Parts: sequence; C-alpha cells; structure tokens
Amino acid sequence: MPTRKPDFDPAQPPLLPVSRRSVLQAIGISGTAAALGNGLAQAAPAPGQAPAYQEPGAQALTFTVNGQQQTLNVDPRTTLLDALRERLQLTGTKKGCDHGQCGACTVHVNGRRVNACLSLALMHEGDAITTVEGLGSPEQLHPMQAAFVEHDAYQCGYCTSGQIMSAVALANEPHGRSDGEIKEAMSGNICRCGAYSHILAAIKTAQA
Ligand code: FES
Ligand code: FES
Repeated sequence: MPTRKPDFDPAQPPLLPVSRRSVLQAIGISGTAAALGNGLAQAAPAPGQAPAYQEPGAQALTFTVNGQQQTLNVDPRTTLLDALRERLQLTGTKKGCDHGQCGACTVHVNGRRVNACLSLALMHEGDAITTVEGLGSPEQLHPMQAAFVEHDAYQCGYCTSGQIMSAVALANEPHGRSDGEIKEAMSGNICRCGAYSHILAAIKTAQA
C-alpha cells in the first residue's frame, strides 16, 4: 500500500520566502496604519496634534452641564447617563438597573428630575443638566447633602446621589409634606440597603 506524502515537511525550505512584514512593506502599509485595520485609518494629523476620533454616525450635541457649556459628538443611541459618565467623567450619577427602575441615575434637566438612563443624550440639545457634582462641594454642601450626612441616610451609598437629586427636585413639585406623601414622591428611588427611614428624616430636615 503506497504511503501518503505529508502536506508539510519541516525539513524543506518554504516555497516562497514570504514573511508578514515583507507583505506589508511590499504593499506600502506602515505598521501603525495596519494596526488600525478595516478602514479606521485616518488622515495623518498635523505635527503636534492628536488625531480627532470621530465615531461613525455621531452627531453634535451642545448642552450645559453643571453650569458649563459642553459640546460632544455622540452616537445617537447614547443615553444621557452614558454621556455624563463615560464622556464627561461625571461618575457621581450611578448606573443601577439601566432600565428606569431604581432611580440611581437621577439628574435634573432644566430643574426637573429625570432618569438619565431612559433619556437619549441627543434629546438634550440646549438643555441645562445638573448632576450631584453640581449641587454642592465637599467644602460647601447643598442643604440636602448636609441633611443626608446629619441623618446618616446611606449605607453603601450607591443610591445616594439619585436620592439626593430626587429629594432636591421634590422641593419644586406640588406634593404634600406628610411622611406618606414624601415616601410616595420618592418611590422611584430604590435603596437596597433599606435606609429609607433615615432618608425620610433627612428630607424633612432639609425641607423644614
Ligand atoms: Fe436609571 Fe436605574 S439606572 S433607573
Ligand atoms: Fe446602599 Fe441605598 S445606601 S442602596
């Protein structure tokens, strides 16, 4: 029975002395451009300038965040929450459920509370956004922040910025001031640590 010739004999020299490097050199692609791959290579920037990355399909958005005008190019699918956290590094606003169920992402849009995970960034052209970073500072806390500290109204703290943003917005909403009415008005903000009684006490102190 004849023996089958092996497909590859390591003792033999290669048919073509071709390396990956020689192929790239032959077709004139530099190592950097090759690394960019699949059409992402861009025109070379001017000397001393970083290349501007443009997301495919991105659109310009100009809005005011914590009193500062910001202009971003954002993918139309970007939520306000991701624009704040990922693009502006305002990570005080938390992502809990990302589905409008927990309130951790609450910010103010033109003074009204909004779940930032349920709102597309591009819907906010020209709007004034306030995040917890824009309420007060460690040296000068907003009265609601000070009340939360005074009443120990948090444990892990993950829900706290959303609780505070909701509580501050509540002051401009037509709601009653009884315990039950405050609880109802704050019911979109979940605290899995169960700090509700302390949160209620803090809100009542700040509203007094
Ligand atoms: Fe937006 Fe939970 S992260 S409601
Ligand atoms: Fe932990 Fe509210 S303090 S979730």
